[in-house]
Amino acid sequence: MQLRAPRGTSDILPGEVERWQWLQQEARTVFTRYGYREIITPVFEHTELFVRGIGEATDVVNKEMYTFTDKGGRSITLRPEGTASVVRAYLEHNMAAWPQPVKLYYFTSGFRYEKPQAGRYRQFHQLGAEALGSADPALDAEMIAIPIEIYRRLGLGNFLVKLNSIGCPQCRHTYREALISHLTPNLARLCSTCRNRYELNPLRILDCKSAQCQQAIENVPRSVDFLCDECQHHFSLVQTYLNEMAIPFVLDDRLVRGLDYYSRTVFEVQSNDLGAQSSICGGGRYDGLVEECGGPATPGVGFASGIERVIEALARQNKNPSRTNEVQVFVASLGAAARLPTFKLVHQLRQAGLIVETDYLQRSLKAQLKAANRLGASTVVIVGEDELAKGVVQVRNMQTATQEELPLPQVVNILINR
Ligand code: HAM
Repeated sequence: MQLRAPRGTSDILPGEVERWQWLQQEARTVFTRYGYREIITPVFEHTELFVRGIGEATDVVNKEMYTFTDKGGRSITLRPEGTASVVRAYLEHNMAAWPQPVKLYYFTSGFRYEKPQAGRYRQFHQLGAEALGSADPALDAEMIAIPIEIYRRLGLGNFLVKLNSIGCPQCRHTYREALISHLTPNLARLCSTCRNRYELNPLRILDCKSAQCQQAIENVPRSVDFLCDECQHHFSLVQTYLNEMAIPFVLDDRLVRGLDYYSRTVFEVQSNDLGAQSSICGGGRYDGLVEECGGPATPGVGFASGIERVIEALARQNKNPSRTNEVQVFVASLGAAARLPTFKLVHQLRQAGLIVETDYLQRSLKAQLKAANRLGASTVVIVGEDELAKGVVQVRNMQTATQEELPLPQVVNILINR
């Protein structure tokens, strides 16, 4: 049987990987401009971190985690997202003593045992950022501005920013009660998943996609109508800042998030070019998460954007990185005596900073020229036994198919200056 990558995972091959590098490069530029520094956290954590951080009632914790017992008898989980790990690291390394707010960004893989489909994978990748230690609504707006700026630099368009506030635990409590009393008489009309959610996580019912739930929740109360004065003020400032930055957004009172740690601001960016899995970015404020993870009350806000989905949206919009990393020089060698001098020349050209390829299959000159052509090399240096005896090489311009003889000791310098 031929071995295949596990369901929901994929290889990112050369050709495709350049898009990933391009995206990471643009993202790094933006993160740095906004004052964020990179953090790399472990691929796996103690299961408890996610149970406490993301919430026991969420689908992620309930159904989707890759959890196993290691040989030391500990319960370990492959990270399903990046935020909880960053919060754990913030506490573990006493980042409260660093200048506040602490602004961190990351590129991570995430693991969720979901039903794979286009845009939804069991191993996926995110780029994201977290800012800890400030409740300033300017940071909420910044967390929306960052992914938008990354998308702008990549040339990605045709997306929509959706914004909502789910309030703080106090106002959410009142809202939850109102929601439950509204849903109680309609319970029978909800899908079976939502009937289970009703007690534990009624807010999630708002974003159920099933038609029967959509009907049953037609006139449900809106969280924004239950915000306390401070949450209301915070929410209106977030909008003011977004308007100041001329970032278009729509208010969506049905927007709730799949992870339990959020408070106040929640947002998503949806691409109009993707199918069912259209959310390319999600995030929000999580002022209770640090405490939930055992630390002192510390506000936080962040976002994560799904790399596979952004790449797919870019591909649909025919947006590509400019071609780089193409072979500049191919060094062809003719005859056994030319092999060692060729090898040395290749090394010197590479050390001088050129992208250089050569032949490793002892092919004929004709086949080597063909290989050089396929690699897109603009120059081929031909090292032949007869030329070596004269201390020269042939340099062929692949565009014009013209050839000239150059002295071997000077060829590196001459080629660099071209
Ligand atoms: P999330 O909404 O679960 O939030 O994921 C963020 C983004 O990751 C999604 O919008 C989507 O683009 C991508 N994504 C999630 N699951 C998958 C999957 N199975 N396959 C492909 N792409 C996926 C979080 O993860 C939060 N940690 C975001 C955050 C950071 N909130 C505050 N700080």
